Amino acid sequence: MTRTIIVSNRLPTKVLRTDDGLAFKPSEGGLATGLGSIYKAEGNVWVGWPGMFVEDAAEQEFVTEQLRADSMAPVFLTESEIRDYYEGFSNETLWPTFHYFSQYAVYDAATWEAYVAVNEKFCQAVLAQSGPDDTIWVHDYQLLLLPQMLRKARPQATIGFFLHIPFPSYEMVRALPWRTQLLEGMLGADLIGFHTFSYMRHFLSSVSQLLGLPTVNGQIDTPTRSVQVDAFPMGIDYQRFADAAASEAAQQHEQVYREALHGARIVLSIDRLDYTKGIAERLRAFELLLQRFPEWRGQVSLIMVVVPSRDQVAQYQALKEEIDELVGRINAQYRTIAWSPIQYFYRSFPLEELAALYRMADVGLVTPIRDGMNLVAKEFIASKLDRRGVLILSERAGAARELSDALLINPSDTDQLVQTLHDALVMPEEEQTQRMAEMQALVRRYDVFAWTQLFMSQLTEAKARQRNLATVPL
Ligand code: F6P
Repeated sequence: MTRTIIVSNRLPTKVLRTDDGLAFKPSEGGLATGLGSIYKAEGNVWVGWPGMFVEDAAEQEFVTEQLRADSMAPVFLTESEIRDYYEGFSNETLWPTFHYFSQYAVYDAATWEAYVAVNEKFCQAVLAQSGPDDTIWVHDYQLLLLPQMLRKARPQATIGFFLHIPFPSYEMVRALPWRTQLLEGMLGADLIGFHTFSYMRHFLSSVSQLLGLPTVNGQIDTPTRSVQVDAFPMGIDYQRFADAAASEAAQQHEQVYREALHGARIVLSIDRLDYTKGIAERLRAFELLLQRFPEWRGQVSLIMVVVPSRDQVAQYQALKEEIDELVGRINAQYRTIAWSPIQYFYRSFPLEELAALYRMADVGLVTPIRDGMNLVAKEFIASKLDRRGVLILSERAGAARELSDALLINPSDTDQLVQTLHDALVMPEEEQTQRMAEMQALVRRYDVFAWTQLFMSQLTEAKARQRNLATVPL
């Protein structure tokens, strides 16, 4: 029987240490819902890190047993692997480079060695879980070397790779001391997917300029195989968000929040803590809105949810401090007894409470400096059951390629953002519903299930084409 093995750095379930022992909770992120239909199917498995340092052998066995029952296989990482492979090479070298923050990129041979070693560890874990006929789907920048490692061990295997973050221009990639190894690592796959055509073009350009390989119509010919490359814009589980927004619980939360906010209009911002998300820039724009359009004072509040992330990495700690300071300063300057300009939350919210926030927001403010896709924009759209509300979206989020009915802004142009915020708050209802209906049709149709199906069917085709090529007589 052919099975599918999903591999990502993080498992869809995370292990937590609580007063009552180890607990199992869903991880943040949209991938798990989309791939749930695959990895929970008969015999399939998801290989990844359970999100916590587990050293004790008995605990590791317990975690493995618990996860096995739910079709997952853990890769346990040591504290130094988490520091050097995850916080180090993945998030201090690749993450800033791929998001065009080269000034933050660290080049450290020791973290590179850890990255190679942990990719090898994942390779062994996948090999232990899979047979030669299985399909293996590898995800994201933490595992760029894994496709080639798997290919060496299983030359005939069907291997897909999807990158969830931007693939940057050749000029960024060429700065990486390990650029050749990283590109060759990805080329172990039969099909490589990106969110947008620009990321795909950048990848093809890097492969041709750095490896000298021919690339024609999204196909790369290596001396031994052909590799297919394509764009697959990721979607969300639309119905899950629409249902959550329609739920009794969300409506009740909304009522409570509205009463607490005394009828203020709502601008909503939801992100993981990350310098790529433009959170500080967004706060400055909101401050300028209150300066330039004093009529909004007392009338509009920014609800800003920042989900803690990568808090051991220095840049993330510095950003947290900057946000705390900005929020404090703006609130201190403008607040009244009855009104707060910014309602800031540094934590994650349960789905029904998020749904209530999405429901009540007049404006969804999604203004990353760089973002592979941005699923929050799509969640906001799916939650707008009455189709009222305006999405302001950065043109540098992958989602902007699809969501042309959003108000698209350049996140470096603060004046434009301030004016767009004002325009969104005064947009006639008819225009809001027209734009929202167009975006809902698109986000509903290309949901995460369609995304998964499309990738898997193209992977099968890419492999079949390769087999046919292999049987053509020379
Ligand atoms: O956007 C890329 C990504 O790796 C997602 O897959 C993930 O949900 C998110 O960043 C959070 O990353 P981390 O696993 O480092 O918390």
